[in-house]
Amino acid sequence: MFPTERPRRLRRTPALRRLVAETTLTPHDLVAPLFVAEGIFEPRAISSLPGHFQHTITSLREEVRALVRAGVRGVLLFGVPTTKDEVGSGAWDPDGVVQVALRELRDEFGDDIVLMADLCLDEYTSHGHCGVLLPDGTVDNDATIALYARVAVAQAQAGAAVVAPSGMMDGQVAAIRVALDDAGFTDTIILAYAAKYASGLYGPFRDAVGVEIVEGGDRKGYQQDYRNRREALREARADVAQGADIVMVKPAMSYLDVVSDLHHALDVPVCAYHVSGEYAMVKAAGANGWIDETAVAIEQLTAVRRAGADFVLTYFAREIATELDA
Ligand code: PBG
Repeated sequence: MFPTERPRRLRRTPALRRLVAETTLTPHDLVAPLFVAEGIFEPRAISSLPGHFQHTITSLREEVRALVRAGVRGVLLFGVPTTKDEVGSGAWDPDGVVQVALRELRDEFGDDIVLMADLCLDEYTSHGHCGVLLPDGTVDNDATIALYARVAVAQAQAGAAVVAPSGMMDGQVAAIRVALDDAGFTDTIILAYAAKYASGLYGPFRDAVGVEIVEGGDRKGYQQDYRNRREALREARADVAQGADIVMVKPAMSYLDVVSDLHHALDVPVCAYHVSGEYAMVKAAGANGWIDETAVAIEQLTAVRRAGADFVLTYFAREIATELDA
C-alpha cells in the first residue's frame, strides 16, 4: 500500500506556500497604460475606467511619480489630441501631445522608468480607423505602415525607449525597424502587439480616447478572429522575423492559451495586455460588493504570469503594486 497523496502538507503556512509558489507577481511585472490629453487644464475622469484620467502634462508627471514610488517600471502612453484628420498627422507631429509628454517624462525620470508609446493612428484619425483609408473605406495597409514609420521616429526622438505598434498591419514591424535604424535609433525597442484580437473588451478604452469608428464599423478586417489560436503564432513569428523585441497578446484573460503558446514557441519576452473591459468588469463587480476586487485583480494578473507572460500591462498597476511585495 502506498501512503495517501497529501499535497495539503505544502499549503499549511504562508511561508511554505510562498516557498513552493511557481509564479510570482511583483510591482516590477506591471506596466501602467496612461492617457494624456491636449488642451485641457484639469485631469478628466474616465467614467468607464474608474480611477483613471485623461491627464494633463502636470497630472501625468504626478501619476508617474506615484507609479515609480510603488515600484512599477513601465508606462505606456496614449494621446488624446484636440484635432483629428484623415491621415492622423497628430501622431507624428513633434508637438503632438504624446511627443510633448515623452520629452517631459524623459527629462524628469530618465532611466528610472521604461517609457513606452502606443504606436497607432486611431486616436488621431477623423474616421477612427487604425490607418488611412482607400476609396472603398478599407484600410490601406502599405500606405499606413509608411506613416507608422514616421510615428516611430517621432516617438523615439521624443524619448520613447519602446514603441508599441498596435494597428495590426502586415509588415508594420519591419517598416518601423528600418525607419528607426535609418534615423539612428538602433536601441529603440519594438514591442509588437503581435496577437491582437478583435475584442468586445476595448469599449472603455475607446471612451477614454474618444474614438468612434465611422458608420458603426469595426476592426475585424485587421484585428484577429477570436476563433483562431494557431494564427496567433503565425502573427507573432512574423513579427519576430521582422525585428520585434517583445511580443504582446491582447486581451489577456480570454487568451491565456495564446500566451502559453507564444511563451513556449518563441524565445523573445512575451507580455499580455489586461485591457480596459477586463479592468472595468472587475471594478464594476467590486463596486457592487459582488467580488473582492483586489483579490480578483491579483488572481487574474497572477494567472497571466502563470500562463507565461513576463509582464502585464494593466490599469490595476498602481493600486495593485501597493498591495504586492517588491
Ligand atoms: C489601438 C488600441 C486599442 C487599445 C490599445 N490600442 C483599441 C482598439 O484596438 O480598438 C485597447 C486597449 C484597452 O482596451 O485597454 N490604438
